[in-house]
Amino acid sequence: MTTHRPLTRQAHELLAEYLSPGEIAIDATAGNGHDTLFLARQVGPGGTVHAFDIQAEALAQTRDRLRAAACDTPVFYRHCSHAEMLSALPASARGQVSAVTFNLGYLPGADHSTITRAPSTLEALRQSLTLLRPGGVLSVLAYRGHPGGREEAEAVAAWCARQDALAHAVYDSPGPVLHLCRRAREACD
Ligand SMILES: C[S@@+](CC[C@H](N)C(=O)[O-])C[C@H]1O[C@@H](n2cnc3c(N)ncnc32)[C@H](O)[C@@H]1O
Repeated sequence: MTTHRPLTRQAHELLAEYLSPGEIAIDATAGNGHDTLFLARQVGPGGTVHAFDIQAEALAQTRDRLRAAACDTPVFYRHCSHAEMLSALPASARGQVSAVTFNLGYLPGADHSTITRAPSTLEALRQSLTLLRPGGVLSVLAYRGHPGGREEAEAVAAWCARQDALAHAVYDSPGPVLHLCRRAREACD
């Protein structure tokens, strides 16, 4: 499906269908915190959000955004790669996470050489499968305009297409491409 509506907004609209108060969500790329705030609002004060970023500056901006929004959802700021998400989260989170979001590329307004890269992105996607609950969703927004972006987007598309246990939908645009992958309701690992 090709769309001209901003895919960042569309991703939130789609994810909102799968997130309820009290649930656990992961922002695999916190950046400026827009996605973390969205997830935190969806799961509410009874839920939990884990926000990952390798840049301290991104996590600080995310924390500031949530504070300014007076958001009282518990958010755990994880200053490490999303490729370490499985060891960063408590074992009790396995099979319990409702959504994992990836917004790939670089932090807008910062050094464009610090970018997500296919090997760690794919490792994080693999680990997400262990964390997702039945019926949970993965969303990946991939950009193709920066060096390495097209290759990473292609690697993500190929990975998503190979996952038999996930229902996979693609939302394309002249800019980024959005992949939404939903785990079947019955446990199938
Ligand atoms: C496009 S930005 C994310 C935008 C963000 N979701 C928002 O709502 O503002 C991409 C972020 O991914 C982060 N990043 C790059 N490699 C990463 C990795 N291996 N693990 C976690 N975050 C990473 C960058 O530091 C950057 O902040």
